Amino acid sequence: MATALIVLAAGQGTRMNSDFPKVLHELGGAPLFAHALASGAALAPERTVLVIGHGAGAVEKAALEVDPEIGIAVQEEQLGTAHAVAQAKGFFDGFEGDTIVLYGDTPFVRPETLEAMQAARAAGHAVVVLGFEAADPARYGRLVMDGQQLMRIVEYKDASDEERAITLCNSGVICADTSVMFDLIDAVSNENASGEYYLPDIVGLARARGLTATAVTCPEAETLGINSRAELAAAEAEFQSRARAAALENGVTLTAPDTVFFAHDTVIGRDVVVEPNVVFGPGVTIETGARIRAFSHLEGAHVGGGAIVGPYARLRPGAELDGGARIGNFVEIKNAQIGPGAKVNHLTYIGDATVGEDANIGAGTVTCNYNGVEKFHTEIGARAFIGSDTMLVAPVTVGDGAMTGSGSVITKDVPADSLALGRAEQVVKIGVASRLFELYKKNKENRGKE
Ligand code: UD1
Ligand code: MG
Repeated sequence: MATALIVLAAGQGTRMNSDFPKVLHELGGAPLFAHALASGAALAPERTVLVIGHGAGAVEKAALEVDPEIGIAVQEEQLGTAHAVAQAKGFFDGFEGDTIVLYGDTPFVRPETLEAMQAARAAGHAVVVLGFEAADPARYGRLVMDGQQLMRIVEYKDASDEERAITLCNSGVICADTSVMFDLIDAVSNENASGEYYLPDIVGLARARGLTATAVTCPEAETLGINSRAELAAAEAEFQSRARAAALENGVTLTAPDTVFFAHDTVIGRDVVVEPNVVFGPGVTIETGARIRAFSHLEGAHVGGGAIVGPYARLRPGAELDGGARIGNFVEIKNAQIGPGAKVNHLTYIGDATVGEDANIGAGTVTCNYNGVEKFHTEIGARAFIGSDTMLVAPVTVGDGAMTGSGSVITKDVPADSLALGRAEQVVKIGVASRLFELYKKNKENRGKE
């Protein structure tokens, strides 16, 4: 059965107290809406539509970065969840299959839960709703059940006291046959306490047409929606604790798990050791057996097997470390390939560069990659030895097995196997030091007399 997704993300999120639309706030380094998209993407949907409204321009841009194929529907005025879904209708001409509606501000719904909803659909129910037993049902919509049959959903504002006593609540996630869903939405009215078009009303409307509906349930934590900064912080804590548990489960050693921060897409191989206080931004992959030492910060980086990074290292986007490479303290690597076994151990910036196998980069080396207007590439050959405090003014190439003298400013290519010195020649004046000290002391005394 073909599946489609509609993700609702038009609301403003007033309680975030923000200039930015709620769904652009980040969780695990990715915008909130991307988490809902990722759960849905696990079902390999044939089409995905994001319904946007508040901050539409910015949300559309971010959405296309996450998924260039995504359909964007704009809901100019937020007239309710059924109205929001109706805005996506244009993307479903000729589509046959189920549609799952998710909320962009609800990041933790698991793909397995959505699969359970699909299974309930396959068992013949026209509409399947994801419910949860709420610890505090507060203002959630209530699921009115009759055995396994879901009779209708009543919003808190419209509910009787008896209905308000129900603790089985609506998460908002709905799965239905696509054309049935749009037909039912056409029949939804806004004659209710909020004057809104409620998507959950399609349950009662389906039953009135002789169709059946049911609920699948999941733990409340999975349906957690984010409405405030405090809830965002709590969700981040939840996200991190899940990511840490998953890493440990997958054979990663975390010396102090609570001090390590992951992104939504961090990939770490078996027998990697991550020391305390390490931060993984988006786009990091660490291969088997590497070690990430304390206080390192990595984003958009790939670390090969057995490499050692840190302590206090920074890997920025495009950092590619081959197996056994060694990046030490106070070293920054950006958009650079570090060959197998190469060492960049201390106080160095390597950006827009290629470093060959087993090369050794001395302390304080800088690839001067930027002239204020453009960036240029530095090429360092295999087994090259870059002396401490070398400035490599790009574009420049240092050949295989070549050396640069400490303190050199290298502006011209260095052929393989050569030594390049780019510094003033040393001058030695015997016996001059004591005379200079005397002179300086006199100068100081004379100033004291003035
Ligand atoms: C909704 C459900 C309620 C459920 C609760 C779970 C309805 C009428 N009620 O209530 O049964 O228990 O979620 O959290 O559906 N949105 C739009 N356009 C709109 C309105 C909403 O895109 O016109 C989006 C919001 O951005 C949000 C989601 O839909 O992501 C839910 O909207 P919200 O206003 O939070 O609905 P609730 O009142 O919480
Ligand atoms: Mg809500």
